[in-house]
Amino acid sequence: MKTYPSFTDTPLIKNARDELSLNFHHQWELNDRGHRMTHFEDVFQCAMYINKELDLGHPEINMLFAGYFHDLFAWTRINHHELAYQYFMTADHPVIVKYFGPPFYEEGACRNKKPDRLLVALACRQHRASYKGQFSNQFAELINSADRGFPKGAEVLLNRVLKHKTDTLPGKSVDELMSISIEFLKSKAGSQGYARYPDLYLKVFGEELKEQMAEIDQL
Ligand SMILES: [Fe+2]
Ligand SMILES: [Fe+2]
Repeated sequence: MKTYPSFTDTPLIKNARDELSLNFHHQWELNDRGHRMTHFEDVFQCAMYINKELDLGHPEINMLFAGYFHDLFAWTRINHHELAYQYFMTADHPVIVKYFGPPFYEEGACRNKKPDRLLVALACRQHRASYKGQFSNQFAELINSADRGFPKGAEVLLNRVLKHKTDTLPGKSVDELMSISIEFLKSKAGSQGYARYPDLYLKVFGEELKEQMAEIDQL
């Protein structure tokens, strides 16, 4: 499997990430270990990579915030994508206002003429592997693709699932957790899995994805 080095931060990204970490780490530390800063950073880096490979031209700051907010409420697995959408549209948190302007809706009116809040919010809403609808725009497809992650091979994926299952299923033995994790990974990301891989993802990672699916089938 290929390796994918991280992008060098611009000063804007470094500052914004520091602000996100300072202001929101208490929130994401409520999540299982598969849905914290390491994952948010992976999604950001993967979005940056696809964006560069396909020369899509999306602003880095939008990719950073989508990476950090799409799973911010992942402690509730049922509706975390909806919570992230609603939060990003309506929050008046100074860090969000600093980069994205005032809340999209205020007293029933749209005061924010910049489309970026809506773009990031919709990307949060449509990020899940199980999302079946049309993407509202290319940025949402980019973030859904980035959330599938770099194809780093079955072992890397299995480790992340194992962390998630260990944190969410207390009381299970190590062997039980391993077999639950393998089943989960096969059903999601194996060759017959339910995960959807958008066209943008397939354009960039098609070959590596096939290899990864074959590895997962063999687990
Ligand atoms: Fe998610
Ligand atoms: Fe995610």
